Amino acid sequence: MSENGYTHRPTSVGILACELYIPSLYVEQSSLETYDNVSKGKYTIGLGQQRIAICSDHEDICSLCLTVLSRLLDQTGVHPQQIGRLDVGTETLVDKAKSIKTVLMQLFAENGNTAVEGVDNVNACYGGTAAIFNAIHWIESSYWDGRYAIVVMGDIAVYAKGNARPTGGAGACALLIGPNAPIVFEPGCRSTYMKHVYDFYKPNLSSPYPVVDGQLSVQCYTSALDACYTQYCTKAQMNNESHSNQSSVNEVNLSTFAGIVFHTPYVKLTQKSLSRLYLNDIIRGCSYIPSPLVEKYKGKIDLDSSMNDKELERDLIEKSREVYEQKTLPGLYFSQNMGNMYTPSVYYSLFSFLSSQTNDEQLYGRRILLFSYGSGLASSMYSMICRKVHDSRFTLAQIQKSVKQARHILDNERTELEPDLMDKLLLEREEKDHKAPFTPTQPSEVLKSDNMYLQSVDKNYRRFYEKFSGNNDTTDNETIQKLYTEYFQTRQTNDNTH
Ligand code: ACO
Repeated sequence: MSENGYTHRPTSVGILACELYIPSLYVEQSSLETYDNVSKGKYTIGLGQQRIAICSDHEDICSLCLTVLSRLLDQTGVHPQQIGRLDVGTETLVDKAKSIKTVLMQLFAENGNTAVEGVDNVNACYGGTAAIFNAIHWIESSYWDGRYAIVVMGDIAVYAKGNARPTGGAGACALLIGPNAPIVFEPGCRSTYMKHVYDFYKPNLSSPYPVVDGQLSVQCYTSALDACYTQYCTKAQMNNESHSNQSSVNEVNLSTFAGIVFHTPYVKLTQKSLSRLYLNDIIRGCSYIPSPLVEKYKGKIDLDSSMNDKELERDLIEKSREVYEQKTLPGLYFSQNMGNMYTPSVYYSLFSFLSSQTNDEQLYGRRILLFSYGSGLASSMYSMICRKVHDSRFTLAQIQKSVKQARHILDNERTELEPDLMDKLLLEREEKDHKAPFTPTQPSEVLKSDNMYLQSVDKNYRRFYEKFSGNNDTTDNETIQKLYTEYFQTRQTNDNTH
């Protein structure tokens, strides 16, 4: 018997189920190009983005997290008392002391469960990954009490007006974590790279916007990617060799993985990142790389000096296009249509990739590589393995079904706003951020029946949330668009008269 009273240690720990949040509003990136007066294609081709998700003032970080958490409990039928740990990852802070985790405790305490470990994890887009690692470690530790863990991560990613604004977005997801999972965290295969840099940070606690050095952040991301991949390959290869004595067939390289997903600030960066991993494989002389390519580059370039070589980058993007289209692109649908979601970004890519696969049998036993990056900086690379689960209701098919439902909402239930309304909405968010008392005033027709939404903030800054009990099912997107246009027109008239 193990120390915690259980007869066996948990095995195959991983993701059992998931729920993804889709914000109610969006702007077309092509309209934003025209509105911002930049050259056509800058956001849609240069950054690879199609749409940017926006939240109304009924949606804040706690309402997003409450919604996905309550949906996860409802959809899986897991009782709140069966949860022993809840970790949150976010960089959208509404309080410097009180964690979002404690706000989420409402859903547990009202069901008689106050014995839930875990609090918030903060480091830019890396907080969700830190939360996941904590949840896995708890289940694999002597403190595990046999219950499930949940990880909730989410962010509302908004930038000040300027060239970073089109890389904003929003999203949140809740993951049920436990043993005997259909997607398992591969033991022993994890690399980490952390450093002190000022590439993106939020020193102004009264502003929702970061201070960002965009070009530096891309360089830091790329250095972290190189370092994590080198370390990951060494560890994974050693893992392979300890299970077999044929080191030649155990080489770890891009062909090892069924899918390769990245933290996605914007889609184009993932294509560059995939090509960068391809360069790493060329430099390592990996066996699957065509020999003319090895001859062209091996020994003639190194990772550091090639960082800003645009010609090399273009060549590698071309050479690795097939790998990218097969292993990375299928995971980008949500990112392309929602933008950067910060903490949950890489997990939306994981789920998008899994739900895009038509033959699950081909996925079973295969590895998926994940790269998580948070500015400041903290980064990790690790892998997950898909498993066919026979004796559990938590299956890959069930996860794919949840993701497809989210995709249905993404494609059909959001309302498009014109870019000038996004500017006005963000200005209003900026002005009202951290103000008390506050009651949302924007049209509530965007709310769906199972949305938890921000009802009010009282004069003592206490936030109150409710499950939306009205019915907006028959309100079409055109009506909502009109209501938002009128809302901001009225506000402008009021501002002009005061
Ligand atoms: N058609 C096609 N491509 C175009 C066009 C056009 N009309 N115009 C420009 N482009 C290309 C550029 O050539 C460039 O391509 P490249 O990256 O291959 O060089 C790309 O579009 C972007 O254009 P730039 O002028 O380089 O970009 P800009 O200065 O506007 O800023 C940036 C881009 C740095 C990503 C900015 O949006 C930003 O700061 N975002 C936030 C920070 C960020 O996301 N960092 C990533 C990691 S950290 C994190 O996740 C927060």
